[in-house]
Amino acid sequence: MQIELIKWYEQNKRDLPWRKTRDPYKIWISEIMLQQTTVEAVIPYFIRFMERFPNIQTLYKASEEEVYKYWEGLGYYRRAKHILETAQIIHNEYHDVFPKDFNTILSLKGIGPYTAGAISSIAFLNPTPAVDGNVLRIISRYYLIKENIALSKTIKKIENIVEELIKDYNPSSFNQGLMDLGARICRPKNPKCDLCPISLHCQAYQNNQQNVLPINIKKIKHQELHFITGVITYKNQFLLIKNPQGLLENLYGFIQYETVNPYHYNELFYNDYHQSLSVVSYIKDIKHVFTHRTWIMHIYHYELKEPIEHLYTLKEIEKLPISSAHQKVLQAYTKEN
Ligand code: ADE
Repeated sequence: MQIELIKWYEQNKRDLPWRKTRDPYKIWISEIMLQQTTVEAVIPYFIRFMERFPNIQTLYKASEEEVYKYWEGLGYYRRAKHILETAQIIHNEYHDVFPKDFNTILSLKGIGPYTAGAISSIAFLNPTPAVDGNVLRIISRYYLIKENIALSKTIKKIENIVEELIKDYNPSSFNQGLMDLGARICRPKNPKCDLCPISLHCQAYQNNQQNVLPINIKKIKHQELHFITGVITYKNQFLLIKNPQGLLENLYGFIQYETVNPYHYNELFYNDYHQSLSVVSYIKDIKHVFTHRTWIMHIYHYELKEPIEHLYTLKEIEKLPISSAHQKVLQAYTKEN
């Protein structure tokens, strides 16, 4: 995939001011600005900043107040404080030369593993991965990784994969290719697989799972119950069951299981109903607060292969008593379909 990705990047890369240089100072400032801010918002700030502070020597002498002035409107002002401190360190300890080594870059203020990987690969062509949310999404789709990307175990696994992929290729083009692919093609919702340079071997695309992956379920708090809530359809009908007991006794609702993996849901459903489902897409997360507990419903759309009992059309559903939690689920689904 590396060759296809790099070729696509070289032919389609976005024309961005920090891509006209290999100066590590400029790359560093751009990566800090891009940390919590969109590319479009960063461009004018980057240009103005470079006119006033074209290098370490001009930046380290500046007052905090003036640096803040050039940051005004970008937000997350701690970033401005950190770049000034880092410029002073580079002046005092590294004789105004931006360090080349990944671990040294990582030790600087305001630079985490992603930013260190980006600077080190773009400015120095070191084969260092730069794994952010975009890359987690692309890699989990490409290799059909059905693990929760919010877990550090999964992040580590994906970092290792990227570390292998980047060897022997231009690390700057490879990492920035992933950034552009994530921004323009491999989007969270409705990815443009027909335009994707690496769709041929993308396991999610080949198995039609690009609208399901990645699985991204944030830290699970106590007193909150997490469910996969399945909007299960057969043609224009929905599967609803009447709760035999519990919180919402006698009300109709979608079938949900206390799991956080949409593929595990299939197995649980099969055990109960002896019917196979195919998972079609992730819809959204809905939080519903009851008096004594909170449900986090991770809603997915599934299709039944065969019709079974308890299928209702939308018109029939209007007449059924449904909990407000599951009314919200139905609304979320119909809004998207
Ligand atoms: N987001 C973070 N770093 C970026 C870069 N170098 N180019 C485009 N988008 C980015």
